[in-house]
Amino acid sequence: MKRTSPLYGVKSQVIKVPAYTLRAFEADVKLNQNENPFDFPEDLKDEIFRRYRERQWSRYPDFVPDSLRQQLADFVGWQREGVLVGNGSNELLQSTLMVLVKSRTRVAIPSPTFTVYGLISTVLGARIVHIPLNPDMSYNANDLISKSQESGASVIIINTPNNPTGSVLSEDGLEEILKRFSGFVLLDEAYYEFWGHSGLRVLKDYPRLIITRTFSKAMGMAGLRVGYLLAHPELATQISKAKLPYNVNQFSLTAAEVALENIDRFRPPIEAVLKERDRLYRELAGIPGVKVYPSEANFFLVEVPVVPRVLFDELYERGILIRDVSSYPMLSKCLRISIGTQEENDRLLSALRASLTK
Ligand SMILES: Cc1ncc(COP(=O)(O)O)c(C=O)c1O
Repeated sequence: MKRTSPLYGVKSQVIKVPAYTLRAFEADVKLNQNENPFDFPEDLKDEIFRRYRERQWSRYPDFVPDSLRQQLADFVGWQREGVLVGNGSNELLQSTLMVLVKSRTRVAIPSPTFTVYGLISTVLGARIVHIPLNPDMSYNANDLISKSQESGASVIIINTPNNPTGSVLSEDGLEEILKRFSGFVLLDEAYYEFWGHSGLRVLKDYPRLIITRTFSKAMGMAGLRVGYLLAHPELATQISKAKLPYNVNQFSLTAAEVALENIDRFRPPIEAVLKERDRLYRELAGIPGVKVYPSEANFFLVEVPVVPRVLFDELYERGILIRDVSSYPMLSKCLRISIGTQEENDRLLSALRASLTK
């Protein structure tokens, strides 16, 4: 590359890696980002505004949000020193990888999964070891262990329930990996609340396990960007060094505090999504030519009998936005659909039937 090029000196792995982008589409029925279809409760919004209004806006937030860390520690049953709060769980995934990955570190990533893991690791100079899921999209713990070991990986990143497949790594499978793999296991539990099983149960026994979770999905706070990390306190201290100071703004910290104080309010919307999950699964499975993968999250991976992009466009014309994941490995026939409200799902189903039975 010429010295005069604006890209001269940019890391070659950054230039080569595709960007993680999402075109901003507007739609009546938005089922493309695994968001909560039920908004944050209005009265709790008022309470957050009231508390935030009383604060002096000219002051920085707390250097370390210790009161929220303590609240989270009490909520999950872990030590405050082992809890970090981030600007979305993405920031915590990034901080963790910044601390664990150096040039040529091998990072094992099941495939297909959330794109951000590979992107950040690549930018940091990692060599990615892609380990395919089984053809039915289930996890294969033995495969993950043996391929990670063979490749010399020092980190495995696991997302359970997994985006975009909805499949899960069983508690036994996780424990097997933790027992036999000597590196770090970064466990992304962004969709934990829709499944209910967590690695937290064994965190005290495996100090190289790091868990991330988010307020973006089940808690309906995607717009406010709050995530948290649970790890051995000594490891959390190292990871915290890679976070920017004042990484979470005071408004979002206040919102997270209010959400945790009112945690029971978030159960009914989760139950409503789970009920719709059962119904949508049955309905989708009944559409000729559609194959729906079982999901423990708030979305479904579906294989369709037409070119996915064509169906995506047709649904979009009918006001329904879903996610085209056909460029992901193993998913060339697939789309991903977030679970919406009952009305939204009804609209999705009739649009799908209309498009596929023309
Ligand atoms: C698997 C997974 N992890 C992490 C995230 C990021 O969540 P956050 O909003 O907390 O940054 C997402 C968002 O879609 C996700 O699907």
